[in-house]
Amino acid sequence: MITAVLIGAGQRGAQVYAEYALTHPNELRIVAVAESDAARREAFARRHQIERGFVFDDWKPLLEKGKIADCAMICTQDRMHTEPVKQALKSGYHVMCEKPMSPSARDCIEMGKLAKKYDRTLTICHVLRYSPFFTKLKEVIDSAVIGDIISIQHIECVGYWHQAHSFVRGNWRNSEEASPMILQKSCHDMDILAWLVGKPCMAVSSFGSLKHFREEEAPEGAGYNCLLDCAVEESCPYSAKKIYCDDEEWYSETIRKVVALEGTADAVAEALKTGPYGRCVYRCDNNVVDHQVVNLQFEGGITVSFTMCAFTYEGSRIMNIMGTKGQIVCDMEKNEIEARDFLTGNRTKHIVKVGNSGHSGSDEKFVRGFLKTVRTNGAFMLSGAESSVESHLIALAAEQSRVTGKTIYMDEFCREVWAPDETKSDACKR
Ligand SMILES: NC(=O)c1ccc[n+]([C@@H]2O[C@H](COP(=O)([O-])OP(=O)(O)OC[C@H]3O[C@@H](n4cnc5c(N)ncnc54)[C@H](O)[C@@H]3O)[C@@H](O)[C@H]2O)c1
Repeated sequence: MITAVLIGAGQRGAQVYAEYALTHPNELRIVAVAESDAARREAFARRHQIERGFVFDDWKPLLEKGKIADCAMICTQDRMHTEPVKQALKSGYHVMCEKPMSPSARDCIEMGKLAKKYDRTLTICHVLRYSPFFTKLKEVIDSAVIGDIISIQHIECVGYWHQAHSFVRGNWRNSEEASPMILQKSCHDMDILAWLVGKPCMAVSSFGSLKHFREEEAPEGAGYNCLLDCAVEESCPYSAKKIYCDDEEWYSETIRKVVALEGTADAVAEALKTGPYGRCVYRCDNNVVDHQVVNLQFEGGITVSFTMCAFTYEGSRIMNIMGTKGQIVCDMEKNEIEARDFLTGNRTKHIVKVGNSGHSGSDEKFVRGFLKTVRTNGAFMLSGAESSVESHLIALAAEQSRVTGKTIYMDEFCREVWAPDETKSDACKR
């Protein structure tokens, strides 16, 4: 049995990771919580039967207690990971940290170095590495059926409603408050690409912008709130009424609970009238991009082209992996991976079985993997700091390229953010 302290009992912390403790009570127990929102904190403490002296309204007093469990789960928002991670490592915890580690490249590198210094494991929630789909894809690539990888095309289909929910109206709409889209959403993709290629990334270039979700694009008659003052609500695909109240295809308990903690129809309808999720998508304070492309060059001349786009019906990831002896085409939404052999023309199709947990079965497998990392003191490690620092740096370099219009060379980028006399591999080493 592993014991954990939870910092940030929000959507991810309380509803995803800590739930594992309730469904697998012999494997994980949450013994303390820090959560600044009173309603969330009390609900969590009750659900996990946490003693009063171990319930805190901030992470600092919790970590000041010293090491009171095997591991610390840090699930606060994007810009609030660094300090608790550093303190938890120092206190001797094995640490799980939500992605992105930090919007600062320097913080990411420092966190990786501290894990090494204090000889603790630091696992980043790159849940896709644990997914049945990407586990199978990695296995197929490593079996060498397509020979050596030469090039990959990868599309991240965000989904029009998901963009509206998280990146126009929601928590990650503004890069100054959260982090740039390529880091926030696509650090998973940079991570998966680096993992599948298995070689260091050498150079990055990127283009993209916020094209659609702007005041200038508002249709005539658009109001400020979909439920209160919009004349064109019924013809708008991004209508909050449609997404959260009417369209059963999209609204889920998870996103309704983000809108209103109770998640009931009445509570959601009321929250839409007064809170951020009822706002017109053309009149929000969002600034993150709604489409972005990234070109990556890996060691050995392997190239990758990545496209992230909001304007897709479903949320999915589609890949075309081209090797010297064959090709793999796959679609995460359909859970299909098809490999084709150049010599024989044979097709091998894998239909991957996914579980019920979030991210196509990844979330539960991630928690199980993290507990194994803690149990084995890091002997098992699938998304540790070393690889995650590397993939975060790739995402941050892509953002720098998008903003400056320049190709970014990873060695130079890492030297600039860390130390002029260190090479990229030194900077990234834990
Ligand atoms: N791994 C993934 O696939 C994935 C998916 C979605 C979100 N995320 C990441 O997870 C993180 C959390 O997202 P979320 O949706 O759960 O957000 P959230 O806002 O629901 O949860 C964060 C919680 O931290 C609490 N908090 C704030 N200040 C605190 C403090 N000083 N001490 C203790 N708690 C404090 C907040 O009250 C909130 O309840 C984000 O960084 C997000 O990017 C990761």
